[in-house]
Amino acid sequence: MFTFLPSLSRWGRASAAFAGLALLTGCDLNFFRMDGHQSTIKVEGVVAREQLELFYVTCWVSLVIFLIVGAVLAYATFKFRARSEADEHAEPPPQGHGNPLIELGLIGASVLALVIIAVPTLRGIWSTYDVPEAEKKDVYEVTGTGYQWWFKFEYPSELAPINNEGAKAPLITGNELVIPAGRPIRIQLRTVDVIHSFWVPKLAGKVDMIPNRANHIYLKADKPGYYWGQCAEYCGDSHAVMRFRVIALEPKRFAQWVQDQSEMARTRQATAADANRPKAQFASLRSFKTNEAGITEKFDIDPLQAWEAKQLPEKNEDAALIAKGRELFTSKTCMACHAVRGHGFAGVTAPDLTHIGSRTTIAAGLLENNSDQLRRWIRDPGSVKPGNKMAKAYIDNKIAISDEEQVALVAYLESLK
Ligand code: CUA
Repeated sequence: MFTFLPSLSRWGRASAAFAGLALLTGCDLNFFRMDGHQSTIKVEGVVAREQLELFYVTCWVSLVIFLIVGAVLAYATFKFRARSEADEHAEPPPQGHGNPLIELGLIGASVLALVIIAVPTLRGIWSTYDVPEAEKKDVYEVTGTGYQWWFKFEYPSELAPINNEGAKAPLITGNELVIPAGRPIRIQLRTVDVIHSFWVPKLAGKVDMIPNRANHIYLKADKPGYYWGQCAEYCGDSHAVMRFRVIALEPKRFAQWVQDQSEMARTRQATAADANRPKAQFASLRSFKTNEAGITEKFDIDPLQAWEAKQLPEKNEDAALIAKGRELFTSKTCMACHAVRGHGFAGVTAPDLTHIGSRTTIAAGLLENNSDQLRRWIRDPGSVKPGNKMAKAYIDNKIAISDEEQVALVAYLESLK
């Protein structure tokens, strides 16, 4: 293979091969950036930290074994190499039965290495499986359900009104799990279709969501923060874009958020001034390419701040346009799958949109929640998330949404704070 490098030594050629392989696998400097959004090295939760420490134990033991075996191999290769033509065709030396002391020593060393790895592994499995006994009284329970391809989060202890007659049901959100920081969270993991896996790398390792089987994960965020999550089990066409976010808040701020979310969707009356506003001011008419990134760099700088900003009402709302969007929500059959508590929409097979305007992302954490991206999603959901049910519903039910209607729907959704 390397005959084009005749002048290089054997070592030189080996190094060249390694460098070439590194280039082929895209191993540039970014490869060494360990602090990304989904880093398991730069962790911010007690469970992830314990798992990281376990990783290091395994890593160090493996590295020591690698160095010893590598050194012995290099020594033997060098010392017993063929020095002449005669060496290459020499008879093998007489075979012995080994040295019992060395063999027993190697068995002992292997057992010791396994024990060094096994003890913290077993301890880690037990201690990260569930909330520690001492913290059980403080645990906060949430239910996370996987759907192809999004996550539903339910708060069984927070009852929110679902109609004007006083009926209540657990608070539901989609794709953004808001939790109190510093408290142990137990998330009951469920799925309605195939196997998904719940993973917030900076907070805890992955746990599968398995059909007909109750599973749970325990995690705790050290401090308020904004965390990236990802489905970690192949679950169909759009598995790779089945993402979500976790927002950890100060307990007081969290209680406020629960209160805000428990409110029914806001209803705003149109004013005379609104009628004269340009209608298309909310969403651009530009087309997006398939796979075009849906998150701006500005958003990434301080996502928790961006999340806080989303909790406030939009400026310059156009009540007439919002009312039109609300009508379209029925006439375009959006309400068959989506719920908006307080507006009489009670679909259950797609994300609850009661307070969609207060989320930072849409389409399961894939697009930033702004008018451009909302419109992109409504206009052609299949180009954002291939194979999704909304795209299929458009085709099956022959739903066409004009440019004007898209803008009205965007205005309505953005008003749902
Ligand atoms: Cu859900 Cu992969």
